[in-house]
Amino acid sequence: MNLEPELYSSQHIPLESVKRFISQTLPQFGWNHCSKEDIVLDVGCGPGGTTFQLVLPLFSGVKKIFAVDLVPVAIEFAKKHNSHQLIEYSVANFEDWSTLNQWEGQITKLVSIYCINWLKDQRNAFQNVFKLLKKGGEAAACFLLESFFYDSILKVQNDPKWSCYFKGIENLVPESHHKKYDSSFYKRMLEAIGFEILYCRDIVITEVVSSDKKYRDFCTSVCVLTPHVPSDLKEDLMNDYMQELLRLNGRNDKGLPLFTSNVIELVIRKL
Ligand SMILES: C[S@@+](CC[C@H](N)C(=O)[O-])C[C@H]1O[C@@H](n2cnc3c(N)ncnc32)[C@H](O)[C@@H]1O
Repeated sequence: MNLEPELYSSQHIPLESVKRFISQTLPQFGWNHCSKEDIVLDVGCGPGGTTFQLVLPLFSGVKKIFAVDLVPVAIEFAKKHNSHQLIEYSVANFEDWSTLNQWEGQITKLVSIYCINWLKDQRNAFQNVFKLLKKGGEAAACFLLESFFYDSILKVQNDPKWSCYFKGIENLVPESHHKKYDSSFYKRMLEAIGFEILYCRDIVITEVVSSDKKYRDFCTSVCVLTPHVPSDLKEDLMNDYMQELLRLNGRNDKGLPLFTSNVIELVIRKL
């Protein structure tokens, strides 16, 4: 995937829903009581805003926080703007075990925020989580199941004006969006892998974005279509994409753009 870290980070990061999940939900499962022996892994840390602002405060007394992302420029950005002695950022692909096996059986807490929706084989991703965790170790994740974000990608991708540029491309719209998976699908998958489910629910989340510019920057930063059109057409593409996003998501009573998705939140333990 492509991620423009500068544009991504201009959005008010972390999102309110992420703040609530990490700062309020996770402490209810004892995640605020960490020890010097704990080794934390943040999967899909992006430019590191969430790692630094939310994951670090929860784990200020641990041995180490490893934070990985597929995109090298995101890791460079994180090292420059969100560094801390406890955090070690590096590039790794969560779909490629050879980039992860150095941590096999060592992680006591794994956190992943809005990354798993980008992965093609989510069962394989959770099997990797299982292999990375120490026995009794826990993972917390939230990710998109269904979203107007994906409907907008599909609309623009299939628009006759644009479709010639997107033949055979990977649009990274997850199976959960097409097949409308809910938390029961994931509960079954996770139990079959060998996890105990401590918490698992799907919820509709609507985020309010504080300006149109931030909305556009954020959506542009994670848009999988832009790399496939010629440079002189990118602006036009983004205009069509933003128009569709705003049509579906709407605005609040103050005129601020909204962003609505069906999200799953879970906390699981390796038995
Ligand atoms: C929406 S961003 C979330 C970033 C961060 N967790 C946050 O809360 O701001 C999703 C991140 O997942 C990363 N990602 C996507 N596929 C990945 C993979 N296969 N392995 C590791 N990271 C991946 C992307 O590069 C991106 O930085």
